[in-house]
Amino acid sequence: MALRVAVLASGNGSNLQSILDKAAAGVLDADVRLVLCNRPDAYALQRAAQAGVPHLCLPHGDFADRESFDAAMVAAIREAGADAVVLAGYMRLLTPLFLNAFAGRVVNIHPAVLPAFPGVRGAADAHAYGVKITGCTVHFVEEKMDHGPVIIQAAVPLNPEEDVEALKGRIHAMEHRIYPQALQWLAQGRLVLDGRTVRLAPPASGEAPARAADRGDWLVWPPLEAGF
Ligand code: GRF
Repeated sequence: MALRVAVLASGNGSNLQSILDKAAAGVLDADVRLVLCNRPDAYALQRAAQAGVPHLCLPHGDFADRESFDAAMVAAIREAGADAVVLAGYMRLLTPLFLNAFAGRVVNIHPAVLPAFPGVRGAADAHAYGVKITGCTVHFVEEKMDHGPVIIQAAVPLNPEEDVEALKGRIHAMEHRIYPQALQWLAQGRLVLDGRTVRLAPPASGEAPARAADRGDWLVWPPLEAGF
């Protein structure tokens, strides 16, 4: 059965777009039941509209506190029939009330190789630090920001002369590959949590999955499978 997801976004929504595109192409077995934004100007809302996906804006400023806001989101997500939550540039922390409602079913993408450079400026901080390799991470979400068990990471080398915007663009390109891949593994029930370690089970067929034709910009682990 398709993974029934709600995507939470606060801005552009290019990761949302990659998920919608992979689902439409039949590569990702996911049904995006709802796109939920906390900002009315989030372009993600327009992307949802263009794709014919139900979408809703709940401005967080309309709520008395974080719990009542998160409770409204939980209600909307349940109403939409989603049982997994995908954070795609969603710029607010989630309360235990929300995380407990979808325990083990909330994932996030971060533009750095965690645990390096957590926080809202992951790519810019890595660039400013002068690292030689950075990248992106998909992980399960815990209450502590950018801290949950890691599902997949991509390494992206820095070109010595590139500015931070160019770097962000190359990280984004890898995000658009590893996020749909991680969701496909979740859809297939292949992500097994063992303490902080996420193990990738083989496909139900028992056959080794075909690998993606290239390994991305540099290295992705676990390896991308065909189609991603
Ligand atoms: C991405 O860089 C993601 O890693 C971070 O927020 C950004 C969202 O970009 N969490 P977009 O809105 O999906 O284009």
